[in-house]
Amino acid sequence: MDTDTSISEDLKLAVLEKIKPTEAERKELMAVQDELAAEVKAAAEKLCVPDIFVKMVGSAARGTWLSGTHDIDVFISFPEETSRKDLEIRGMGIAREVAKHAEYAEDRHAEHPYLNIVYKGFDVDLVPCFRVCSACQLKSAVDRTPFHNEFIKSRIKGREDDVLLMKQFMRGGRVYGSELKTQGFSGYLTELLIIYYGSFEKTVKAASSWKPGKKIDIMQHSELEHSEPLVMVDPTDPKRNVAAALSLDKFCMFIDHCREFLKSPEIKFFFPESPLPIEDKEFLEKLESRKTSQLAIVFETPDVVDDVLYPQLYKMEQAASSLLSEYDFSVIKTGVWSGKPQTVVMLELISGTLPNVKKRTGPPVWVREHAEKFKDKYEGAENVFGGYIENGKYVYEVHRKYTTAKGLLEEQLLNCSLGKQVYQSVNKGFEVIENAEICRLKDQDFRVFLRKWV
Ligand code: CTP
Ligand code: MG
Repeated sequence: MDTDTSISEDLKLAVLEKIKPTEAERKELMAVQDELAAEVKAAAEKLCVPDIFVKMVGSAARGTWLSGTHDIDVFISFPEETSRKDLEIRGMGIAREVAKHAEYAEDRHAEHPYLNIVYKGFDVDLVPCFRVCSACQLKSAVDRTPFHNEFIKSRIKGREDDVLLMKQFMRGGRVYGSELKTQGFSGYLTELLIIYYGSFEKTVKAASSWKPGKKIDIMQHSELEHSEPLVMVDPTDPKRNVAAALSLDKFCMFIDHCREFLKSPEIKFFFPESPLPIEDKEFLEKLESRKTSQLAIVFETPDVVDDVLYPQLYKMEQAASSLLSEYDFSVIKTGVWSGKPQTVVMLELISGTLPNVKKRTGPPVWVREHAEKFKDKYEGAENVFGGYIENGKYVYEVHRKYTTAKGLLEEQLLNCSLGKQVYQSVNKGFEVIENAEICRLKDQDFRVFLRKWV
């Protein structure tokens, strides 16, 4: 018997039954891809741009998409010698022509422009790119993608199910997705892991003893040192780490997810139960038993894409936490929830209030000049309780400027370093609400977040 069968076939089948595209779904997707290719060619002819190729890339082209996810990536590839300006004008021209037959279209800007359309219910990206001769000679970041496609397509045959299982398993562990919101594993990274380790279970077993600094170099062609927790050298470009977006915490959450799964391989690791929104009563009981202080900074969600929004929210979370620590408040944890219309930055503190007394320690008495200046400033001053010498240093007990975390945030939050759109929104107005008052926030998705929080 194969030694690689500790995870039952029944379990894998049960998962695949839910996530593997049916023959009908597969046919529909192929048909839409063919139609899109024809549309692009027709548009190119109409606009007299004869020298383009159409390439289908991404998981839809590789047979590794999860059932129900309907995204298609169409690359419009131009000769390498095309100028960037020409690529943009002609590429977007073709894309806009195709978009005339779409239900919806939206200009998006990554490193260069592309068009996102909804076509027959599918979420389609139309991306102009250069036809460079190798991925390490790219002229724009998207030029690698066709090479990824070639690399994966020729090696993934027969292991598509393993990729699907892994993608779903990572979703279950909340580590799938390389967007800046998630900072987890991308589809391409997942496919490379399956190619390298050979199967879903071999990857899970190997990952359960990963350590930060883990490096995988399938083509053994990288000379570079990286500092990221996981380094997956791009087989098509030795200078690039495919796992560059993966955060240390998501890397470790995946290790933990693998270990727990191996202890008891169950379907819940693929489809975790989603927690129910917490009710007022339960939340109040939790507050009562935790005896900490909960603060929620609430403001209007800026109207920008997640890849712009989330880095700014994480930065704000960090800035608010540093501000509180700087003024002696002890932060237990911080978190971010964002919905429409509101965003909430949550902070849990040992206590949201501090006494009036703050201890200021000065220089040693024998460092005469500095010590005397320090003493002159505080001795007999208003707002000073008194002073003494401790361990050779002058110490004064003074009135604290901010005795409540709420007051501090209300006065100083806008002086923190905040990202552009978050600053604009917070500047328009924000509120700091505490403890039981948080029950005012009724959004059901926020209440799910809140259940995990307490
Ligand atoms: N890509 C990339 N770098 C990124 C995002 C995407 O190189 N940060 C390339 C990859 O080659 C990827 C393709 O663009 O395969 C399409 O991206 P995406 O749809 O995000 O991933 P998929 O591989 O299609 O995976 P999924 O099943 O999640 O859609
Ligand atoms: Mg995709």
